[in-house]
Amino acid sequence: MSELNLVLLGPPGSGKGTQGERLNDDLRLPYYATGDILRGAVRDETELGKSAKAFMDAGDLVPDEVIVGVIAERIDSEEARDGFILDGFPRTTPQAEALDAKLAELGREVTTVLLIDVSDDEVVRRLGGRRTCEAEGHVYHVEFNPPKQEGVCDIDGSPLIVRDDDKPEVIRKRLATYHEKTEPLVSYYDGKGILRRVDGARDPAEVTEELRGILDAARS
Ligand code: AP5
Repeated sequence: MSELNLVLLGPPGSGKGTQGERLNDDLRLPYYATGDILRGAVRDETELGKSAKAFMDAGDLVPDEVIVGVIAERIDSEEARDGFILDGFPRTTPQAEALDAKLAELGREVTTVLLIDVSDDEVVRRLGGRRTCEAEGHVYHVEFNPPKQEGVCDIDGSPLIVRDDDKPEVIRKRLATYHEKTEPLVSYYDGKGILRRVDGARDPAEVTEELRGILDAARS
């Protein structure tokens, strides 16, 4: 099977984390979600977390130079030798260029980009009801994907919390940031012929099936 260097692209709340977790179970590749990495750093009060917190709370992106090094280091690791799944990175054109440059150094390239497409109205509906596991970031929705026991993660039993950036005013800012800074990556990757667009406004299981089909075809 050929190497899979996968990028998950889509607006906040499109289901990148939900689908990323499921694909990760199938693919057994390292899964790097920059939002989770940054939230972990904020929780642990590391230098990375201290420099990222104010940007995240405001719904802004952290500066490119802060996040690029974090991902470059992981991609260059032994565990990512046969491929990786990126969720939430790249998010700007300079980040995409930095990723290409790092991979080129290693004689590799991004092989597939999956765009999970949903409308702004759907994003607002979803993020308002999202609950996130405090320990590992496992994702639920009070209506669309509830945990078996209210307020408790099915996977590791830790409490489910509302993310600081899931407040209505911050959600609107994150959407605006997505349209301005991240959406240009759709044509960036489309131009390279590696972008596949999936309708994310369906049942999560249907979305997963379509993504699996695309990845099976890409790897065969
Ligand atoms: P990050 O954590 O990456 O946030 P995001 O991209 O805004 O994405 P989300 O995690 O909000 O949503 P998702 O697409 O994963 O959806 P989910 O599966 O949870 O980043 C947070 C912040 O970190 C950024 O704002 C920025 O400050 C910073 N940052 C991160 N990366 C950065 C970078 N590269 N550069 C600079 N800054 C960076 O689903 C959402 C909800 O919908 C859940 O409740 C879920 O259960 C539900 N749901 C999912 N699928 C469905 C479905 N099909 N039908 C119904 N409900 C569904």
